[in-house]
This record gives sequence, C-alpha cells and structure tokens, in this order.
Amino acid sequence: MRRSVLVTGASRRIGAEIACTLHAAGYNVVIHFRESSGPARVLEDELNGRRPDSARILQADLLQTADVAGLAERAVSAWGRIDALVNNASAFYPTPIAKVSEAQWDELINCNMKAPFFLSRALAPELMQRLGSIVNIVDIHALRPREGFSVYSLSKAGLAAMTQSLARELAPSVRVNGVAPGAILWPEAEMDGAEREQILSRIPLQKTGQARDIAQTVLFLLGSDYITGQMLSVDGGRSLCF
Ligand SMILES: NC(=O)c1ccc[n+]([C@@H]2O[C@H](COP(=O)([O-])OP(=O)(O)OC[C@H]3O[C@@H](n4cnc5c(N)ncnc54)[C@H](OP(=O)(O)O)[C@@H]3O)[C@@H](O)[C@H]2O)c1
Repeated sequence: MRRSVLVTGASRRIGAEIACTLHAAGYNVVIHFRESSGPARVLEDELNGRRPDSARILQADLLQTADVAGLAERAVSAWGRIDALVNNASAFYPTPIAKVSEAQWDELINCNMKAPFFLSRALAPELMQRLGSIVNIVDIHALRPREGFSVYSLSKAGLAAMTQSLARELAPSVRVNGVAPGAILWPEAEMDGAEREQILSRIPLQKTGQARDIAQTVLFLLGSDYITGQMLSVDGGRSLCF
C-alpha cells in the first residue's frame, strides 16, 4: 500500500507543486482546497492520469473547526491511511496597526496557526501509528517580522513554535519540521515593480525562488529519518541580511 499525504491549500501555486512532487515520489495525495475547485479538479485529473486512483480532492474551510476535524477524517478514509501532513494553506495580507480589525486577526491567526494545530491534533493518532511526519510551511518573517504585516508574522511565529512543541510531544513516533520560504512567488494582490526590486535587492542570490525549491525541501524533510523540530530556510540567503 502506497504512503498517503494530505497537503492543505494544494490546488495552486506552492501547494500544487508540493502535491506534484510528492506524487512523483510515489505518494498518494489528498489535495485540499477551499475555493479553488477548478484548479483542484484539473490537478486531480492530471495526477490520476499519471497513476490511476492516486489523487483525491477534498474541500474544507480551515476557519471552521468542524471542517478541520472532518478534513482529517476524510483524508484518512481516502486510502485508509495518512503518513504525512503538509500544512501549507495560508492567509496573507498587510494589517497596519492603525487599521487592523479583529476579523482580520481571527482569519490570519485561525488559518495560519489554529487550523494547522487542530489538523495535527486530529491526525496525530494516525500519524503515530504510521510513524509519519508533519511539515509546516512557515515564513522567514516568522522570526523577523515584516513591517506592516504584524498579524501574519505573529501567526507564522506561532506556527514555528508549534513545530518545535509538537516535535517534542509527538516524538519518537512522528517527526515535525518546518520550511521557511523567502520570496518565492509574488502575492496575487497588486505589488508594484519598485517594491519587487526592493525585495530582490536584499536577496544575496539576487532572484526569487521557485515553488519546486519548497517542494523539494518538503520531500527531503519527509524522507529524512533523524531530523525533527527544525526549520529550514529556503530564501536565497535573505535571512542572512536582516
Ligand atoms: N509565496 C511566497 O513567496 C511565500 C513566501 C513565504 C511563505 N510562503 C508560505 O508558503 C505557503 C504557500 O504560499 P502560496 O503563496 O502558494 O500561498 P497562497 O497562494 O497565498 O495560499 C495557498 C492556499 O491557501 C488556501 N487558503 C487560504 N485561506 C484558507 C482557508 N480559510 N481555508 C482553507 N484554505 C485556505 C487557499 O486555497 P483556495 O485557493 O482553495 O481558497 C490558497 O490557494 C504559505 O503557507 C505561505 O505563507 C509563501
């Protein structure tokens, strides 16, 4: 029986690349999505075309606690096992202190920190049984906050702390690690050229990363047998220059 992985927010962008990479490495993949049903179906068909019955899509709004528990249950039912969880889904937008609302706090904290925690909790018994692994997709700005993005930075700092906490608590059965991307894909919201240039000027390797850089790192962490509680920055050297 093939190993199975649940990747959240996997219909597009970095999550889709993680799903494709793990699928190519032999995993059956559960592709979670919230709104992007079209791209999720296209990806599911593509992967099932490569290997029959190797990909399933599941919809869930991670802001709803009941959806989170249901997602875990449905993911295990897909092939009767889950060996790995990749917490990739995320909300991302600026929250200037003068304008931030409680609703924004709730969305960012609940999507980026609470949902990964409760999804990990719901899947912990299954992952322990399978000697599985969790990878959290964090951000270099978890530890060095991005100006104007305090709530997003807080949410990712919480996810980084959770990575270490659960690595201790779920050992020796389950390994828990994080990947901290730098500038990989530009946000979908408008971003002017000057802002992009400013970000690029602070990256020693002078370029953005590719989604596959994150996906390959996830694959490496899932495959390692003696790494837990670690955060691997994939950022072209950006975090050397804070
Ligand atoms: N892009 C970068 O350069 C960069 C840099 C640093 C860190 N990261 C981290 O890397 C990961 C992937 O980045 P990305 O840019 O590919 O992410 P993204 O496109 O901003 O978001 C990924 C997915 O998260 C899902 N999502 C958002 N809110 C949700 C909710 N309430 N419930 C369920 N799903 C929800 C969305 O699914 P639907 O579309 O289906 O609604 C979305 O497609 C994220 O954790 C991000 O913080 C990315």
